[in-house]
Amino acid sequence: MQKTFLMVKPDGVQRGLVGEIVNRFEKKGFQLVGAKLMHVTEEIAGQHYAEHKERPFFGELVEFITSGPVFAMVWEGEEVIATARQMMGKTNPKEALPGTIRGDYGVTVGKNIIHGSDSPESAEREIAIFFKEEELVPYTKLVNEWIY
Ligand code: TYD
Ligand code: MG
Repeated sequence: MQKTFLMVKPDGVQRGLVGEIVNRFEKKGFQLVGAKLMHVTEEIAGQHYAEHKERPFFGELVEFITSGPVFAMVWEGEEVIATARQMMGKTNPKEALPGTIRGDYGVTVGKNIIHGSDSPESAEREIAIFFKEEELVPYTKLVNEWIY
């Protein structure tokens, strides 16, 4: 089973979309194994978005992600990394299809509601940045027998 790191960004928290977003991944059949409301410090933002350090939008990105609380989550399931990315939609909400989170709720790329890991390597790296091992809660869901 894969794990991925998903995060409702400050715009999604302020707009009251946490429940809607959790609902989508729950109903899909994925399993929540860790979650917390938190502020992202500049240091964590720099680590998390290290790959974008040289990009022109990096400063605004860090300013935005540290501007208010985020809802950080770890989700588990078969192919959850790629499937969650599909459910999020394209990075720019202008290109994200209706039915995706960014397609349904986002308007501009600078405020696109949700983050999701893009590969197994980034999932492992990002989970380790945001969660301590003991903050992840392994448990058995009997309903999984009806999903897999
Ligand atoms: P990226 O990792 O390319 O997208 P994704 O979130 O889909 O993995 O970029 C990280 C974030 O940076 C993106 O969610 C929004 C922001 N961003 C901009 O503000 N402008 C841009 O041109 C791009 C590519 C990203
Ligand atoms: Mg990315």
